[in-house]
Amino acid sequence: MGGQQDWIVSPGTALRGEAGIPGDKSVSHRAVMFAALADGVSRIDGFLEGEDTRATAGIFSQLGVRFETPSPSQRIVHGVGVDGLRAPQGPLDCGNAGTGMRLLAGLLCAQPFDTVLVGDASLSRRPMRRVIDPLSRMGASIESAPGGMPPLRIQGRQMLRGMDYTLEVASAQVKSAILLAGLYARGETVVREPHPTRDYTERMLSALGVDIEFSPGYARLQGGQRLRATDIAVPADFSSAAFFLVAASIVPGSELRLHAVGLNPRRTGLLVALRAMGADITEENRSEHGGEPVADLVVRHAPLHGIEVPVEIVPDMIDEFPALFVAAAAAEGVTVVRGAAELRVKESDRLASMSAGLRTLGIDVEETADGASLHGGNIGAGSVESHGDHRIAMAFSVAAQVASGPVRVGDVANVATSFPGYDALARRVGFGAFTRS
Ligand code: S3P
Repeated sequence: MGGQQDWIVSPGTALRGEAGIPGDKSVSHRAVMFAALADGVSRIDGFLEGEDTRATAGIFSQLGVRFETPSPSQRIVHGVGVDGLRAPQGPLDCGNAGTGMRLLAGLLCAQPFDTVLVGDASLSRRPMRRVIDPLSRMGASIESAPGGMPPLRIQGRQMLRGMDYTLEVASAQVKSAILLAGLYARGETVVREPHPTRDYTERMLSALGVDIEFSPGYARLQGGQRLRATDIAVPADFSSAAFFLVAASIVPGSELRLHAVGLNPRRTGLLVALRAMGADITEENRSEHGGEPVADLVVRHAPLHGIEVPVEIVPDMIDEFPALFVAAAAAEGVTVVRGAAELRVKESDRLASMSAGLRTLGIDVEETADGASLHGGNIGAGSVESHGDHRIAMAFSVAAQVASGPVRVGDVANVATSFPGYDALARRVGFGAFTRS
C-alpha cells in the first residue's frame, strides 16, 4: 500500500461536451448477488468496475460462484442456486461497501456454514445493529465488535422465521437484508418503511422470477422461492452524475450532456432540489434500461439561489448531499437542510466533513444535529479533508471549479470505490488540472 493520495484541483473552464457515467453501484451490487443465487447463467451489462462492486463479486467467487469478464463492465455469472453457495476459506472483505456488508449479512445468516464479514477503516466504524437486530428477530446468529461495528461473525445453520417488520430508519440496505433472509425463512416476510427507499432489490428479485409484492414503503415475499437467471442491464449511476450536474450548473458558460442516466424516482431528489434552486437541467431521449427509467440529462449553467430542502425528498437524495452542499455554497442566499441525520453514518460523517471543508473555503455554514444552514458566497482556495469518503472528495473537486484558486483535497483514493476514472472524465469536459500529491 502506498501513502495517502491527495488531489490539488485547479479551477477550470466552462464544462462542455458529453460524458458517459459508469454503472449504478446499488444495482451492480445486487446484480452480482442475485445472479449468483439464480439457477442458470446471467449476463450483466453496464456493471460498475468500482472497488466496492468488485469486492462483492470477489466475495461470491470465494463462495464458489464462477464469473467471466468478456469485457470491462460485463460479467457472465454462473449462478449456483439459492442452496449452492460453498463455505469460504477465510474472512470476506467488503472493502468500503456498506451495501455489500449489510445485504450479505441478510444472505449469509441463512447459509449452512459460518462466515466473517470484514471491511476497511471507514466501514469498520459504521453501524451494523440496524441489520443485526432485525435479522436476529428472524432467528439469525450474528456477533459484531463492540458498539455493533464490523467485523460480523455470522453463524450458519439457523432456522429463520419470516416476520412483519417496520424499519426504524429508512434504509434500503436494511430492507434488502431482511428480504434476502426472508427468501430462506419459513413463512412470510413483510418490510414496512417510514419513508420509501430505493426498490432495486424488489424490482430485481421480481425480474428473476421471485413472487414479491411491493409498493413504495412496503415489500412482502414468501420464503422458499428460487431465482431464475436473467440478463441485467445496469443504468448509469445518478449519484455519480450528480457531481457533473452541480459543476455544470455553477460554472458559467457550461453546457454538458450526460448519457442514459438512471432516473429511478427514489434516487432523483437532487434534480428536484437543483431545479427549485434555479438549475437548468432537461431530460432527453427518455427510455427504459433493464426496467429502470433512463434519460440523457442536459445541464446548462444557471444562477442558483438557496432553498429549504423539503424534508420529504431527503431519502431520495441521501447520497447527493455532498454535491448539494457545493451547489448551496455557490448559490445566492441561504440553503437549509433538515431531517438528514443519516448523513452522519455514511462513509464519513458527511454533515461534519462538508461543513468543515466549506468553512475552510470561506463559506458560512451552521451545522445542526440533522442538517445545516449554508450561506452562499465566494468559494476560496484552501486545503480540505475528504475523510476517506469518495463523495466528499468529488464534491470538493467540484467546489474547486469556482474557487478563487486551487483546492487541495486530502485522501482521495476511495473515489475508486464508486467512480473509477472520475478525474480523467472531469478533465476531459473542462475541469481544471488534478495534480496528485
Ligand atoms: C444503498 C442505500 C442507501 C445509500 C447507499 C446505497 C443501497 O443507504 O445511501 O449508498 O444500495 O441500498 P440506506 O440503506 O441508508 O438507504
